[in-house]
Amino acid sequence: MNTRFIVNGVERDFAGDSEMPLLWYLRDHARLTGTKFGCGSGICGACTVLVEGKAQRSCMLPVAAVAGRSVTTIEGLAGPELHPVQQAWLEEDVAQCGYCQAGQILAAVALLKRNPEPGPDDVESITNLCRCGTYVRIRRAIARAAREMRR
Ligand code: FES
Ligand code: FES
Repeated sequence: MNTRFIVNGVERDFAGDSEMPLLWYLRDHARLTGTKFGCGSGICGACTVLVEGKAQRSCMLPVAAVAGRSVTTIEGLAGPELHPVQQAWLEEDVAQCGYCQAGQILAAVALLKRNPEPGPDDVESITNLCRCGTYVRIRRAIARAAREMRR
């Protein structure tokens, strides 16, 4: 049976193995390569996407788990303008190598959706790893985005 779901506002109909990780569907079938493979075991967060607005590790999520649901990847985050989190990321010059950054941004978007005024402990709840150690700039960018989004 085909698996139907939405990715970045576009309906998808997948006839392949619904137990395949969503990450592989996004990268190999949908060609949305902004979602990265890091550890493949739910630890690093490089593969983070939004499912109905919540951050999820797509390497640990079978395609079947998103049947009938809406997935947002980094490619679908901006509208006519950048999302305020993306804008804050640019203004704080967060990225270094960039590999983890799509996942970090989507994790921040999910955090700010559930908590528009996150404190340090809330920000610490984002467990995505960054090998380049951009954590200080990530925290600054989240604070900046939170201010902008409350205006
Ligand atoms: S690749 Fe999914 S958590 Fe690391
Ligand atoms: S910016 Fe290089 S891994 Fe995070």
